[in-house]
Amino acid sequence: MSIGGAVTAAAARPARCCFAKSRVVPKSSPKRHHAQVRNTDAFTKTTTTIVTRAVAEPTPTKNDFMLSDEQIWTNPANEENYKLQTQIMKLTEDTTVIRSLDWDRDRFDIEFGLEKGTTYNSYVIKGKEKTILIDASHEKFEKLYLDSLLAVVGDWRTIDYIVCSHTEPDHSGLIRHVLERAPDATVVGTKVCLAFLDNLVQKDFNKLVVKGGDALEMGDGRQLKFVPAPNLHWPDTMFSYDTESELVYTCDAFGAHYCTEDVFDEELPKLMPHFSFYYECLMKPNARSVLTALRKCEADGVKLSTVCTGHGPILQRNSEELIGDYKKWSEKALEKAKASVAVFYTADYGFSDRLSQSVARGVVKTDCEVAMVDLSTCDAQQVVEEVGRASGIVLLAPPNANEDIQDNIGVLIGAVKPGKQKILVCESYGGDDEPVDPLMRKFAEIGLQESQSPLKCQSAPTEGTYQLYEEAGTDLGQLLTQKEKLKEMKSSMSADVARALGRVSGGLYIVTAVQGTAKSAMVASWVAQASFEPLGFTIAVAKDRAIESLMQVGDSFVLNCLGEDGFEAPMKHFLKRFPPGADRFEGVDWKPAQCGSPILADAVSYVECKVVSRMDANDHWVIYSEALDGGVFNKDAKTASHFRKVATYY
Ligand code: FEO
Repeated sequence: MSIGGAVTAAAARPARCCFAKSRVVPKSSPKRHHAQVRNTDAFTKTTTTIVTRAVAEPTPTKNDFMLSDEQIWTNPANEENYKLQTQIMKLTEDTTVIRSLDWDRDRFDIEFGLEKGTTYNSYVIKGKEKTILIDASHEKFEKLYLDSLLAVVGDWRTIDYIVCSHTEPDHSGLIRHVLERAPDATVVGTKVCLAFLDNLVQKDFNKLVVKGGDALEMGDGRQLKFVPAPNLHWPDTMFSYDTESELVYTCDAFGAHYCTEDVFDEELPKLMPHFSFYYECLMKPNARSVLTALRKCEADGVKLSTVCTGHGPILQRNSEELIGDYKKWSEKALEKAKASVAVFYTADYGFSDRLSQSVARGVVKTDCEVAMVDLSTCDAQQVVEEVGRASGIVLLAPPNANEDIQDNIGVLIGAVKPGKQKILVCESYGGDDEPVDPLMRKFAEIGLQESQSPLKCQSAPTEGTYQLYEEAGTDLGQLLTQKEKLKEMKSSMSADVARALGRVSGGLYIVTAVQGTAKSAMVASWVAQASFEPLGFTIAVAKDRAIESLMQVGDSFVLNCLGEDGFEAPMKHFLKRFPPGADRFEGVDWKPAQCGSPILADAVSYVECKVVSRMDANDHWVIYSEALDGGVFNKDAKTASHFRKVATYY
């Protein structure tokens, strides 16, 4: 989920390595405990007084924290500058959060545009006998974060444990830097997590594999209990629960890409769109795992009242409502599901986990339920159960040499239902993938139909690769749900209303968009001007359209207007059903607009636009965009019109 490429740091102004600002203690706080953050030489010598709270007390209405100076990070991918800062706040007498504020981050993967940056949250618990660090930060925060952490722990040698909730580099990127300073610390994580971390750290370090029910002792009977939460949103994820403070650490789960100085969920109306969008992108494909994790928390006595997330604010003021939303949304996603797809992947192998998540995201766009199954940890019974309830199967190529996994593949082959299920086989880019073509042939021989030829990944995945896998997931989901959807649509609409609405006409346009190596296009007719100031318009885009991922808030795209004369050829070309990942522009004459998206030679005019907002319209997104630039190539041409008789199709 991180912006790819090496990190370069360029300070806009010299970093003074001090927390230049601290907040005033609110007078209204009824019970306040004052504590001192230990300063190191790297920080200002001024002792700062901050507010802490006892476990059961409400936190003050205003946050009381310290902010570092700002630093500027230059993204090598686009040479743009991004403001970084860290923030420290005591949550209890002995628990502190260090938030890395990535104010301007504008994207996580191709499908996840960010409007309000993000934060990476790390926590320090100083138990009576043991000090525990929970997660670290993104590598681009190296100096800011390490200075902050040292200010909190005082001495690197006091760190006994580093809990790694999940190994994506936005949380674990700096663990190896912490280990360089605290080499005796033991890293704690799930088996899968530590296997990943070995690759990241590339050096020996102390490890402790934990599973559900395990706990670390912190002294005086206080424990940090572990609750595995696989697929929220990576296979290695686990929650940790402090039995004394009753704080629960959930990493990606219940987070939001929302960067403000509010440490807690202060302003729900402002937070909500980011919280729900985050769920939609990261957690909805794993709706079943969300419900399992919630059940596990309940069974293990884990209170979800103060939820220390890995991104965005800590949930406390509205935790009941927000956790309730996760439950409600996940139940709804499963209820609405018209088909079920089992995605078999291998968690600690190559890019299997990341690529499988892309496929899952694509499948979920079509109202299918997804079950993620890790071939390296599941047993034969689970394989049989998941295959039994699936109408579609996705198999990410496992490593050739692993006998246990091969046994599970044998079970999978024995459990499939010939003629009743569709299958998609994909490479994992793990270096020792079981060859996908012979693998697919095995399924074909027993009568399983492939949704398309096996997906190949012959170099490290790029945006284009993830797009390919996501689109293949969408295609599979569409194959499985199209009949049911058509039936549902026909039965839900009055024929008279459908005919009447069909008289509403539109124009004909080709929308084109680019993100890194991912490019897409679609024919649009539901386009309408929506404002004068700024010049803005809306486009309705079906939720299962591939281009939807490239039209997030803040993204740019081009609206190409087709003329009355000559619209047929481009329309026919872009209406084709392209195979996933296919270059829609092959054989098409185009030049890039300033944003990089194609301006078609066949267009009579074009408008370069930026997405301002998106409205959820059930099966479509209504995307409101501002027109920033444009040109007319043929001033006498009229825009092609699009007439229909019935509103049940485009
Ligand atoms: Fe926030 Fe999945 O890393």
